This record gives sequence, C-alpha cells and structure tokens, in this order.
Amino acid sequence: MQIGILTAGGDSPGLNAAMRGLGKAAIRTHDMSVIGFRDGFRGLMQNRFVRLESAELSGILTSGGTILGTSRDKPHKMDVGGKVMDMTDLMIENIQGHQLDCLVCLGGGGTAKNAMRLAEKGVSVMTLPKTIDNDLWGTDTTLGFDTAMGIATEAIDRLHSTAHSHHRIVVVEVMGHNTGWIALGAGLAGGGDVILIPEIPYDVEAISNTILERRASGSTFSIVVVSEGAISRDKAAMKEQAQLLKKNEDADLAAKGKDTLARLAQARHNHTANLASDLESRTGLESRVTILGHVQRGGTPSPTDRLLATRLGTACADFIAAGMSGAMVAIRDNECVPVPLEEVAGRRKTVPLDHPWILTARNLGVGLGDE
Ligand code: F6P
Repeated sequence: MQIGILTAGGDSPGLNAAMRGLGKAAIRTHDMSVIGFRDGFRGLMQNRFVRLESAELSGILTSGGTILGTSRDKPHKMDVGGKVMDMTDLMIENIQGHQLDCLVCLGGGGTAKNAMRLAEKGVSVMTLPKTIDNDLWGTDTTLGFDTAMGIATEAIDRLHSTAHSHHRIVVVEVMGHNTGWIALGAGLAGGGDVILIPEIPYDVEAISNTILERRASGSTFSIVVVSEGAISRDKAAMKEQAQLLKKNEDADLAAKGKDTLARLAQARHNHTANLASDLESRTGLESRVTILGHVQRGGTPSPTDRLLATRLGTACADFIAAGMSGAMVAIRDNECVPVPLEEVAGRRKTVPLDHPWILTARNLGVGLGDE
C-alpha cells in the first residue's frame, strides 16, 4: 500500500510526532510506502511532495511545527493567481497519480470538512485530530492542546509574581478561537482569579466586583485569564441578532447584519486592552495586558501530546491496513477509535456549561464574569 500525508490549518505541537508514529508503523508493521505533501492542500494541488522513509521520520518526535509545512487552503476555494477556484479535481488527479490507497490529513475542524469533501468524491481519506484549541467534535482531546495549556499555565504562574509585587490587575489573553478550553484549563491550573470564556458571555461589572471583593479581603492583585473569543453580554446579544439578520431574505437587512458582524470582528482587535482599561477605571487598580499569541503553538510538544500523537498515528496506520477510510482517529476513554467524518465535520466542541472544570471554578470562587 502507498499512503500520503499532509498537515493543514494552524500548526500544533505534536504534528511531527504523529507523522513519525503513522509513518513508522506504516513502513515497519504494514510494509507501506509513505509520501508527504508540502504545505497542506496547496502542496497536494501543486504535487509538491517528499518521500518519507525511516530516515526522514527519525529525530522529529520532539520538534515543534510540521516538517511538511502547512497552509489554511481549502481544496474547493483555492487562491490561484488571485482567482478563487475549486481545485478538488486536480488534487484527486494527483492522489490517483501516486496510486495512494489513503490520504491522511492532520488538522482541525476545517481540515475534517475538507477531507470529507474529498471522501464524498470517492477519495480514501483519514484524519488525525490536531488543534491547540481542543474544539474538535468526536474526540476527548486534540493534539497540541496539552502543550498549549502547559505554556499558558506557565505564563500565568510567572505573571502572578509580578502582579503581586505591583498590586496590579494582569489581564492575560490566551488562544482558543471560539472556545474556552485553553483559558479554562490554564486558568484553573495557574490559579487565575477570573476566567472569561466565549461560552459564558461576561458582564464587566461582575468582573470588577470579583476584583474588588478580592481587594476587600486583602488580595491586592488579580489575574484575569481571557480567551481570545470571550465576549461581553451586550456584544453577544448584538452578535446573535446580527447573525439572524444576515440570513434575512431582505438584502438590505442581510447587509446590515453582515456589517454589524464585520464591526464586531474589527472590535476584537482591541478587546483585551479595552477590557483591562475598563477594569482599571472601575477598580482604581493599575492594569497590564499580556497577549500570549503564537507562543502557545510553538516549540516542543509535552510528553502527553507526544504520547497521544504516537498512539493516534500508529492506530491510524492499523486502521488503514484494515481497509478503513472516511474517519477521524479519535481518542475516547483512552482508546483510539475511528469516528466517521460526517459526525465530525461542521461541528464544534465547546465547553459545556456543566463541565467539571466550570463547576470546579465556581466551587473555588473563581469569577467567570457572569455573577
Ligand atoms: O486554531 C488554532 C489557532 O491558534 C487559534 O487559537 C487562533 O485563533 C488561530 O489559530 C490563529 O491563527 P493564525 O495562525 O492564522 O494567526
């Protein structure tokens, strides 16, 4: 058998470890040959590939990023010389040209959708769940999440001593797209005093009350952990209305909805800085902002992610050898299981409001911005 691998979407610690696991098991256990396409679906379209032998797969377990490179391209909406075109058929031709028995796409929600589009056209595909955001449906966790949560936790630990020394509010923004897994996980692990996640729209007064209560009880500093997708109650209501309006049959109303959504997206850029200055004026405490950004995605994967990547990769090789396709290899209850792509594509795993981490935060008295 011959298999192809590509990595798509934002990079994530553990991608190389997963390719190593997949490739080594494919070569050693199943006697397959393996090629890798460069830069996600763009490399597949341009037929830019590299043969992955044992030598290429050695020494990459601990390295960050992806040895193949990645891109956020979508097969059905490729920018080709400034024109957006559906290049799916060309990609399928390239897959057939290599006589691939399976294409394995390592990626997040967008990649699952793209892989499903290929599967619908008869291509044999498998995916591996990769995203630091942990927002993929159908799997208990995703590759890169543990590492990102670890990096964010260490940052929060370090911010504590400086916040404490200066009696400041430190507002730290973490990634997570439209879900709060990183903020909640790192916020709890790092002892954040307030944790704001998109799933719980916040009221700024509730946050400032939490900080003032802390001050009244003798704590002169506060750490506010903000997910990049966190949103105030007012803006969440505006967003909901605008989303409905956007679907309106009346073109003018639909345009109005679109316009409001664009303005809300624009306002995101200064969200955390504005929140910090609002808290400063409400509490009288000096504030500082730290935006962790891509540091959460860089560097070596944690042992947990290396282990997960290796298990998912090797399990994927076994599933392909057994003739399986059209599925994501998920980790559920500590078992690697195939989940049909149609169950995964187009769905997002947000933090359930009754999740044990939320209940733990409430038990601890951590402010979630809603009361
Ligand atoms: O999906 C992973 C992620 O890191 C999100 O947390 C973040 O919103 C986004 O990617 C950033 O994307 P980019 O690398 O394109 O700036």
